Formats: sequence, C-alpha cells, structure tokens
Amino acid sequence: MAFIKNLLLLSVIIPICLGKKSPNFVLILADDVGYGDFQCYGHATQERGAVDDLAAEGMRFTQWYAPDSLCSPSRAALLTGRYPIRSGIVGPNRVFWQNSRGGLPKSEETLAEALKRYNYTTGIVGKWHLGINEFVANDGNHLPHHHGFDYVGTLLSFSYHFRCDPTKFKAEERTEKCFLNKGSKLVQQPITSEDLTEKILNDSKSFIKLYSKKPFFLYMSMPQAHSALFASKNFRGNSKRGIYGDSINEMSWAIGKLIKLLRELHLDENTLVIFLSDHGPQAELCHHGGSAGPLRGGKASTWDGGLKVPAMAWWPGTIKPGSVYRGVLSSMDIFPTFLNLAGGETVTKLDGTSLTDVLTGTHDDAKDPAKHDVLFHYCSDQIMAVRIGPYKLHYYSQYQRDYEGDLCNNGNPYDDKLLYFNCSLSHYHDPPLIFDINRDPGEQFPLDPSKQQDLVERTASLVQKHRQTIIPVPSQLGSHDSNVQPCCNPPLCACNYQADEDGIELSKDEL
Ligand SMILES: *[C@@H]1O[C@H](CO)[C@@H](O)[C@H](O)[C@H]1NC(C)=O
Ligand SMILES: *[C@@H]1O[C@H](CO)[C@@H](O)[C@H](O)[C@H]1NC(C)=O
Ligand SMILES: *[C@@H]1O[C@H](CO)[C@@H](O)[C@H](O)[C@H]1NC(C)=O
Repeated sequence: MAFIKNLLLLSVIIPICLGKKSPNFVLILADDVGYGDFQCYGHATQERGAVDDLAAEGMRFTQWYAPDSLCSPSRAALLTGRYPIRSGIVGPNRVFWQNSRGGLPKSEETLAEALKRYNYTTGIVGKWHLGINEFVANDGNHLPHHHGFDYVGTLLSFSYHFRCDPTKFKAEERTEKCFLNKGSKLVQQPITSEDLTEKILNDSKSFIKLYSKKPFFLYMSMPQAHSALFASKNFRGNSKRGIYGDSINEMSWAIGKLIKLLRELHLDENTLVIFLSDHGPQAELCHHGGSAGPLRGGKASTWDGGLKVPAMAWWPGTIKPGSVYRGVLSSMDIFPTFLNLAGGETVTKLDGTSLTDVLTGTHDDAKDPAKHDVLFHYCSDQIMAVRIGPYKLHYYSQYQRDYEGDLCNNGNPYDDKLLYFNCSLSHYHDPPLIFDINRDPGEQFPLDPSKQQDLVERTASLVQKHRQTIIPVPSQLGSHDSNVQPCCNPPLCACNYQADEDGIELSKDEL
C-alpha cells in the first residue's frame, strides 16, 4: 500500500520537478535581409508587418552578428553552433553551387540532430543551401533528411537564385539554377514564384498541426529577399519601397500567419520563435538590394553591414514585450540556447553560448558584461576582422561598392555583381584598421593605431589562440561536377508537379 502511495506521489512530483515543459522552437531565417530593412530597425518607408510585431511583443537585438557574410557558411554555423571553418564550409567559391559535390559533413551534429536526443520532432521548410547531391544527379546525399530533419517540406535545396527571374531569363535558361523540392523529390524546374511563399507557409503550418503533441523544432527558411526578388499578386506594387518592400511584406505576411496558428493552437506561451537574417544585404543591387541602415558594406564583406543582422525573439509570457538587448551576440548562440531550454544541457564545446538568461531577463550585465568578448570574422578561411569588446580590428577589408558608372543605373542592378566575394581581392591593413563600434557603428573613423598598442597585441594573441583550436578538415566547397546537376524528369530537366499528381508520393515523413 505504502509502495503504491509512493508511486502515486512520485508520479505527481516528477512532472512538477521537471517544471516547465520543453518549449517548441520556430527558427525563421530571412535571406540577405539587412540590418536597416524593417520599420522596427528604423527604415523610414518600409511598411509595418508581422516582423515588427515580433519585436514589439518580444525582444529585439541590436548587435547580433551573423557567423559569416554569405549563405552557406552562415547557415552551416547556425545549424552547428560553430564557425564554418570547423565544418569545412570554406573555399574559393565560398558557397555551394547547384552542381557542388560537397555538403555539410554528416559527422557534424546539427541542431536538429541534437534536439532529437530530447525527443523533438524536427522539420525544415524553405531554403537549405548546404549541399544537394554527392555522386549522381538526384542522389540527394546532402539534403536535410540526412541531417536530423524528420519532416522536409517545400525545399529550396539551392536558392531562389537571380537566374530564376522570369522577366530576364527564358524557361530553358532558368532550369540550371532554379529548382524546387518537396522532401527529397524534385517537383518544379524552373520555379514559379507566384505561390512559393504560400507553399512554404502551408507546409510550415501542416508540420506544426501534425506534430504539436510532442515538442517540435521548425526551421522555416524564407527565400526573401534574395535576388531575384519576387512578390505574388497580393503584394506586388504595394510597397512605397517598390519590389524590395513588396518582398519583405510578403515574407512578413507568412510569418504573421504562422504566429496566428501558434495562438490558435494555444502554443504561443510554449513556443520560442527566433527571427533573424542570414547576413547583410547585397549592396551592389542598389534599390533591388536591402538596407544595412547606418552600417558600412553589405553581403560577402566583413564590414558590419555584411554581418550585423536584424534579429528578434518572441515567447509570450517569458520574454518581456518590447525589450531590447544591446550586447554582442551571434547566430551560433541559437544551438546552445535551444539545447539548454530543451533539456537543461550546458554545451561548452561550441563557439556559441546560451542566451537563456538574456531571453528570460535574468542576465546580469554587471556580473557578465559580454556574452562574446571576442568574435572572429572570416572570409572563407581567412580571418579578416575581430570584434573585441567595443572595438573592431580589420586585418583585411573588402573593397566598397562602386556607386559610379552603369553598376547602379537608375538604381537598377547592372547585373548581380559580386564584388565582395573574392577574399583575395581585399585590402591588407598593417597595422589593423581599428574602430570603436560603440561610438562609430558605421566604421567611418579609424582610431590612431599608435595609441592602441595594447589592444592590437591582445587581439593578435587571441587570434593566435583561436587559430590553434581550428582542426584542419576537408573543404566542402569548390568541387563541381555536371553529373550531380539536379534534373527533374530526365533528360528534360523540366517539370511542374502539383502535389500528389503524377505519381509523386508526398509523404509526411521524409526519413
Ligand atoms: C580572386 O581574385 C584573384 C586575383 O585577381 C584571382 O587570381 C582568383 O582567381 C579569384 N578567385 C576567384 C574564386 O574568382
Ligand atoms: C525520449 O523518449 C523515449 C521513449 O519514450 C524515452 O525513453 C526517453 O527517456 C526520452 N528522452 C528524453 C530526453 O526525454
Ligand atoms: C495553401 O493552403 C490553402 C488552405 O488549405 C489552400 O487553399 C491553398 O491552395 C494552398 N496553397 C498552395 C500553394 O498549396
């Protein structure tokens, strides 16, 4: 009898001791959206949208750094919590191409795999850009179901590339770079943008509805606002900013709908939503690219415009509405934060650090003034700059965008110029260029290096120490092969399957 009583008691105590149940996570990533692109970050003419609501109802971050200024390395670091050089996402091309043979190595534990250890159901919808095929066309060896994602919905395994633009390229010119998956299967080549956002939203909603009984992790990776820009008919021509603003408004609409669903399912108080961009805007696209606000440079550069991103966290009942956190943070912090919230795990072997105390408002600035005393900014495998305390030291810096000539004719891009991509085209600075970011966030006024000897030496020694922690691994970028070029319905490399049509089986679990 006593035994049964104890058992009953235990069954009551255990859930109480466990406290709040593990929260769900929704990680929303925007593509090439700049620090200055939202109204809540000071854009004067961008319409208010659901992203601004996230900030108003949650926490906004003013010094959140992307781990890299280009898609593939930044996304690798986001999903592994480590600098991209550690997983080999370095190389002269800096990003995966559609015919790359490499991918995120399977030996790397991803956030999805880590959360599965805590019985989370994991899903991805939208852009991946961490490798596609390895040996032959359509083997899909690098796709997300090999990296811990139970559910893979509508998937841009590559990107909504500028060559997807139907106003500039004919269908047969678009097929090479422009293809869409549902799970592991190619379903559209080239892509029709009109219902792309709605497909991503619908799949995200289906995932949440299907799996909300257990804790879940949804990675909703938006195509906006990467070039080619697009907006479907409900959004086209409505923004004061033109097509770029339309594109932001369409993305915000989808995010708003997802938040609405969380509320309807009464999941809002048990779901942490983090929104951020993968890196800065492509400045060379003039007003077809985003805004870095007051920051210098953009995508592909290690000026703060390439690295500082809009970021916010929403979790009603836990995060104080309208709060702002001004410390230096990194997208690599998401991995340890989610693990900590999921199971109380303290991860120390990563480059990121847990933000649980920041989110719950218990972080003590006096005791622990900086989550990151130092952050290293890379271009491929080269350390370009270091953020240290309030300072930033540039050993190398990229050329700045050229406003002259036909590059920005009438504000229109001449072409998708990629001036910053080539790391070896950067300027070398000896002594390093030093900026006080607290006083000069636009990196306009370099300090006198002769008065900063201590800082220069301290930083050099930290760089030295950091380098010693880098274990050489094979580069995943730069090996291209036409045999792995994705091709739907070979040899046509063209298709447009609607869901469940043409014998394509769209299973819920792409395991
Ligand atoms: C980068 O620029 C250098 C110098 O012009 C050139 O030799 C190299 O091929 C370029 N690299 C790439 C990947 O374009
Ligand atoms: C996950 O679920 C299994 C099976 O229900 C259970 O044995 C295990 O303890 C759970 N793990 C965690 C970390 O909750
Ligand atoms: C998205 O879901 C809605 C509601 O079920 C449906 O009407 C619409 O056709 C779907 N859109 C796409 C692109 O599948």
